[in-house]
Amino acid sequence: MKKLKNKNILIGITGSIAAYKACDIIRIIRKAGGNVQAIMTHSAKQFIGKSTIAALTNNPVIDSIFEDDPKPGLEHINLAFDIDMVLILPATANIIAKAANGIADDSLSLALSICEQPTIFCPAMNYKMWRNKANLDAVEKLRKRGKIIVDPEDGFLASLHEGKGRLANTQRILNNIQSVFDIKLPLKNKNIVITAGPTQEPIDGVRYISNRSSGKMGFAIAETAHNLGANVTLIAGPNNLKDIPGITMIHINTASDMLEAVSEKLDSDYIVMNAAVADYRPKNINPSKIKKHEAKLNIELEPTVDILDYIKDKTKACIIGFALEMENLEENALDKMNRKKLDFIVLNTANNINQGFDVDTNQVTIFSSSGKKIKSDIDTKERIARFMWNEIID
Ligand SMILES: Cc1cc2nc3c(=O)[nH]c(=O)nc-3n(C[C@H](O)[C@H](O)[C@H](O)COP(=O)(O)O)c2cc1C
Repeated sequence: MKKLKNKNILIGITGSIAAYKACDIIRIIRKAGGNVQAIMTHSAKQFIGKSTIAALTNNPVIDSIFEDDPKPGLEHINLAFDIDMVLILPATANIIAKAANGIADDSLSLALSICEQPTIFCPAMNYKMWRNKANLDAVEKLRKRGKIIVDPEDGFLASLHEGKGRLANTQRILNNIQSVFDIKLPLKNKNIVITAGPTQEPIDGVRYISNRSSGKMGFAIAETAHNLGANVTLIAGPNNLKDIPGITMIHINTASDMLEAVSEKLDSDYIVMNAAVADYRPKNINPSKIKKHEAKLNIELEPTVDILDYIKDKTKACIIGFALEMENLEENALDKMNRKKLDFIVLNTANNINQGFDVDTNQVTIFSSSGKKIKSDIDTKERIARFMWNEIID
C-alpha cells in the first residue's frame, strides 16, 4: 500500500446498502498515508451518517452544490485539480447512468463531469438492476472512456436474492486503486523528436507563405511522450503555445531550418513528423518590403526538401508521419506511408470543424506498415496523443 502515501483520493458515496463498506476503504487508504475527501449523494446519507464519513476522512463532507453559506471560489472546480484519483464506492445504477451521460445535477455527478483523473466505479446493486440493459450500456460507455469498473460479484444480496450485484471484495477494490498508482513509463529512456506547427517561407522582409497549423497536436504528442517517460525534443514552427517544461524546445521558422534541426536528431528512437512543413517556398526572397506595383506580382516558387524523404534511409528510428488529407483519404495516406518508408502514418482531415487545424479536438486513423488500421473517436488532442502512443508502443 506504499503507493498511496500522500495521494489525494476523492471518494464518492452513493445510495446503496453497501455504503457502509466505504468506511473500511477510507480507513485503509488513510492508514496507508493517503488523504481522502468525500462527496456523499443525498441518498447516500439515508444509508450512512455524514458525521461518520467526516470523522473517518478527517475532512468536511461535500454534499451539496449550493451551500447555505457559500464559500468564496469555485469549490467543485478546485477539487478537480487537487486530487489524484476518484473512487465511486458504492456506485449505484443511478450514478453510473449519470456519469455515462454527462449529467451534472448534484455534487458528485458534477465532480465526475469535471474530473479527468483516473476514476474507479465499484457498482453495488440488485442483480436485476445490474443486468438491466440500460445499466450494462452505461457501464460499457464508461469502460470505453477509460474508466475502471470493478465488476460486482455473485452471491447473496441484501434482498436475500442470489445473483451478480454485490460490491466487489475489499482486496479487489484495493488492488484496482493500487494499479492506478502503479505508473508505467513505457517510453522511459527513449529519445523522441517531434515536429509541430507550420513553417513560414519568406517572400520579402515582412511577408511569408504559411498554413493554418497551430501546433496543438504536435505539442500534445510531445507532452504525452514526456509523461510516458521519454526524453523529448520538440521542433516547433511559429506558434502561440507555451513551451512545455521538461522538454527540449527548438524554435524554427522555415522548412530548411526544420530539416537542419531534424537532421541533428537522426539517432533518436522515434521521429514523429507532425509539422505542416511548406512544400514550396519563394525562389527569390526580396530582402526589403516589395512595393505595391500596378502590374501583377508573380512569385516563383520552388519545392522545399521533403524531410521524410531525406531522412528515411539515414535513421534507424521508428518514423511516424502525419497525412492531412481532404480527399481519397486512406489511399493518399497509405501511398505516403509506402513511398516514404514510414513505420506508421496518422491520417487526419481538415474536412470537419472539430478536426485538423487550429482546433482542440481531432480524429485520426493510424495505419502501420505491418498492415494494422485503427480509428479513434473525435476527442481532445491530448487524448488522441495518448491513443496514438498506445498504438505505437503496442
Ligand atoms: C433500501 C434501499 C436500498 C438501495 N440499494 C441500492 C443499491 O444497492 N444499488 C443501487 O444502484 N440503488 C439502490 N437503491 C436505489 C438508490 O438509492 C436510488 O436509485 C437513488 O436515487 C440513488 O441515488 P444516488 O445515485 O444519487 O445515490 C436502494 C434504495 C433503497 C430504498
